[in-house]
Amino acid sequence: MPDELRHLPYDLEAGDEVPSNTSANPHFSDIAQARLGRRGLLMGSLGAALTGFIGAGASRPGMAQSAAQGPSIGFKPVPVSPNDTVVVPEGYSVQVIIPQGTPLDGQPAGKSLGEMTAAEQGAAIGAHHDGMHFFPIEGREPDQGSSTDGFLVLNHEYVEPRFMHARAAGMSINSGRMPLVDGARDPDEAQKEINAHGVSVVRITKGTNGQWAVQADPRNRRITGATPMEIAGPVRGHALVRTKYSPDGTRVRGTLNNCAHGVTPWNTYLAAEENWAGYFRNLDQRDGQPVRPREHARYGVPTTLARYNWDQVQGGADEFARFNVSATGADATQDYRNEPNAFGWVVEIDPFNPDAMPVKRTTLGRFAHEGVVFGPAREGRPVVAYSGDDSRFEYIYKFVSARPFNRVSANGSLLDEGTLYVAKFNTDGSGEWLPLVQGQGPLTAANGFADQGEVLVNTRLAADALGATKMDRPEWGAVDPRDGRVYFTLTNNDRRSAEQVDAANPRANNQFGQIIRWREADDDHAATRFAWDLFIIAGAGDDSRVAGNGSLTADNMFVCPDGLWFDAESRLWIQTDIGEGQQLRGVHAPFGNNAMLCANPITGETRRFLTGPNGQEITGVVTTPDRRTMFVNVQHPGATTTPADWAAGRPNSRFPQGSGVPLSVTLVITKDDGGIIGT
Ligand code: FEO
Ligand code: CA
Ligand code: CA
Repeated sequence: MPDELRHLPYDLEAGDEVPSNTSANPHFSDIAQARLGRRGLLMGSLGAALTGFIGAGASRPGMAQSAAQGPSIGFKPVPVSPNDTVVVPEGYSVQVIIPQGTPLDGQPAGKSLGEMTAAEQGAAIGAHHDGMHFFPIEGREPDQGSSTDGFLVLNHEYVEPRFMHARAAGMSINSGRMPLVDGARDPDEAQKEINAHGVSVVRITKGTNGQWAVQADPRNRRITGATPMEIAGPVRGHALVRTKYSPDGTRVRGTLNNCAHGVTPWNTYLAAEENWAGYFRNLDQRDGQPVRPREHARYGVPTTLARYNWDQVQGGADEFARFNVSATGADATQDYRNEPNAFGWVVEIDPFNPDAMPVKRTTLGRFAHEGVVFGPAREGRPVVAYSGDDSRFEYIYKFVSARPFNRVSANGSLLDEGTLYVAKFNTDGSGEWLPLVQGQGPLTAANGFADQGEVLVNTRLAADALGATKMDRPEWGAVDPRDGRVYFTLTNNDRRSAEQVDAANPRANNQFGQIIRWREADDDHAATRFAWDLFIIAGAGDDSRVAGNGSLTADNMFVCPDGLWFDAESRLWIQTDIGEGQQLRGVHAPFGNNAMLCANPITGETRRFLTGPNGQEITGVVTTPDRRTMFVNVQHPGATTTPADWAAGRPNSRFPQGSGVPLSVTLVITKDDGGIIGT
């Protein structure tokens, strides 16, 4: 652990990528065999052995021919890289677009990031590019239409203040992420950071020279940490979201820490709110000890310092003061004690209607939403969406709509009525979806759940009460378009002890992560039972496993899977996020910089496709409908620069410009022969 990261100001369980013990992992198989007995690891068991459970409906039209082999992967793998550059396979090319600070009006950036004002940042591409989708300009159905013109919509997860402000070298901010001391903030700097959060909607087109560029469009817009939003679903108007800003509990300002995303069957964008808790602080005390309501405590709202000290802006304007969520007023409409309860949701954004206010869809639950992924929409059937809670020992959830999908009339209101379930992974490879419904099981008023709003605001506590399976940090999910199997990355969990190992999380001190998958009973995504196994246990050699394909080798070893996406031909794209405290250190050193791989879900064949520059994570991936252009995000290059090196003007990445501060960007990847990416 680097010294500068030793004194984190708040509960580490609330955050991600926190530096950890780097002692050598025990071989997971020893523990798994000891704990799980003769059955050993549940890998590759979703095939014939469970056919009876799943039913004969497993094969669907269009999957018969190539189902046995899966998709082709044709590129030559790239090696592990510790270098400050992007590497893609031979025969592929990369263009860099929309670095942080790119104006949305299509004009060149006239200023460096440090010179930009808060207002200018609010009209430009934000920081820390993450989940992303390409919406073809026709705006019909997802992934239908143009492959040369559309809206790129992307999340801006958090900020690196020291890269953003002209006088940042003197700021007491650690690694750009957490302030180490109380301290007044300059209002324009704080506003600039708020404006660099959120989501960008930006039209991009491919020119005749094959290069992509931003196009001015009245629909280009920034959604930020200050944009007014509606609260919808059972929590709308609930006492737990009434604030001084919204005394009737129907609105909130902004979305924060948007990690991965989702695309609805009606072609809107969903931004998930992940590590939002640390942006607030609650200084309430009793008898000299911190006290927090359970809505703060179970989510890790800090009791000392907030992540960026926005509540400490000089002058204390309401816009900033709201990040101090202490109960200082006569009631909840006089202060911001309930402000954090309006975060931790999934936010719906219509990229084609700039006047549509973003909506927080509370029926999908409140937690550290990594992202959200839909099962295939079928006419007359419920809409189903999966979402992971990325924190150590948290859960995987699924939403099933009350009303059926209708291609003509479907809209966001479908997400306001339905049932939220949480997953229980049994040791025998079966699984259950447990409903989070007020009045059912332990979710009663006597147990502190008086109505469905209270269940949803306290989703984690409700899932605790139901006995859900504590997972190793659930990150992205993806659904195989061929067979409907659902895959989720479990990125790592260095806190899991040998006694806490279970079949789905088979490794103690899990520093490398795994990918789990399941098939819903009768291939019905609305089912309440499923069968699961592990697809890949990440690592290298004896510390890894691939279902049906041995272990990971030099050409495909990886750790800390995070981003996950299926292309239309069922190639599974896996992105890695080795945390900033571990990159190129200790047991993580052999894996180099964060990377992207491509896997065949049927055979387990996996190849490394891309490696990124220093200090970043690779996150966010999508192609155009023709699959001949791929967009991939590079988030926070240079973030591993030590404060001393930063103060000396030596960031450890100069990506992408070769000079100045490192910047998050989107990569545009094409095959030189114009072919489909990955073939
Ligand atoms: Fe923002 Fe869990 O990655
Ligand atoms: Ca992530
Ligand atoms: Ca991550």
